[in-house]
Amino acid sequence: MSEKKLGFATRAIHDGQEPDELTGAVNVPIYLTSTYQQEAIGKNKGHEYARLTNPTRDALEENLCSLEGGTSAHCFGSGMAAITALCTMMKSGDHVVCTDNTYGGTSRLFNQVLTNYGLTFTYVDSRDVDAVAKAIRSETKLVHLETPTNPMMSLTDIRAVAEVAHAKGVEVSVDNTFLSPYLQRPIELGADIVMHSTTKFLNGHSDGLGGVLVGTKPEHAEKFRFVQKCTGGILSPFDSYLLLRGVKTLAVRMKQHDANGRAVADWLVKKLGPERVFYPGLKTHPQYELAAKQQKGFGSMLSFELGSLEKANAFVSKLKLCYFAESLGGVETLVCHPATMTHAAVGAEGRAKLGITDGLIRVSVGIEDVEDIIADIEQALA
Ligand SMILES: Cc1ncc(COP(=O)(O)O)c(C=O)c1O
Repeated sequence: MSEKKLGFATRAIHDGQEPDELTGAVNVPIYLTSTYQQEAIGKNKGHEYARLTNPTRDALEENLCSLEGGTSAHCFGSGMAAITALCTMMKSGDHVVCTDNTYGGTSRLFNQVLTNYGLTFTYVDSRDVDAVAKAIRSETKLVHLETPTNPMMSLTDIRAVAEVAHAKGVEVSVDNTFLSPYLQRPIELGADIVMHSTTKFLNGHSDGLGGVLVGTKPEHAEKFRFVQKCTGGILSPFDSYLLLRGVKTLAVRMKQHDANGRAVADWLVKKLGPERVFYPGLKTHPQYELAAKQQKGFGSMLSFELGSLEKANAFVSKLKLCYFAESLGGVETLVCHPATMTHAAVGAEGRAKLGITDGLIRVSVGIEDVEDIIADIEQALA
């Protein structure tokens, strides 16, 4: 599955998706089968059982591998299932260095499940490359980054972290969910593995959960394929089809998400002042230069501060067009309250350390007409 020379939008539409050999259908069929007839012992058409391979999922994996520029991709039933599979690369006694301001579900998995199996985790402010380097010890096997972070929108310099990690023989994985490969390509910046909750921008339509691991080495392909087979947390054929369909419009959607994100952030700055709006595309963002360098755009994730739980609740209760809901990355604008939703499991003390206040609101700006999004936010703030 090597990257071809065609452009990103072309590959999103065509890679892994040759017209069906039997009928010429231009869309990959949904292969609803759990098993495959075999001609003789050891003789088959490349498929034996659907937990191992399914042609719809195979097509999707080839497509996502191409878009991230890796050498293999493996899809799972959710983003959390993909992170769990990633962690099976390690064994008891191994250590992981992780971005401190990561998705709450990731730290919950690490702290409340995987520590029971002998893995240890150190959380660092990965904006500080020296802090990452210092946290790496002899048992460290992985540095897991999330950039930009959820919901504070802080960035990590992927290239710089990859250099220090690789110098110590440690691999780097990046959760690229917030930007998608259209806006950020961690492997080109030195990362070894890219992970996504495909539930978000890759799917883009809020109609299916999923996760993917894109690797760069033969051992990644071997390991993740084996984990799919052993643990069975694979993506279903129907969800694979939905994701293939969503990815076809990734390039145009991300352009519009990016444009709308910038417009909403600019409007919020005028309304609330720059110190209350968190968006890497603002010149006042402390890591604006890094965002402009390592990302192709600024995306549509932003957060802003309303000062109290009461004000946050009043705002979300008044929304009419934008949905107050968990998740992000859909065509519709989604608003969430991190303290009680995505980061509830982090606890009050953990949230205070990360700067996640009760008055913080996160927005995944959709691709509706941006004037309508802003008008809804304006009336809800009034
Ligand atoms: C950045 C990030 N990573 C991982 C996940 C987990 O993905 P899923 O909900 O598909 O399991 C999420 C979910 O919100 C997320 O925002």
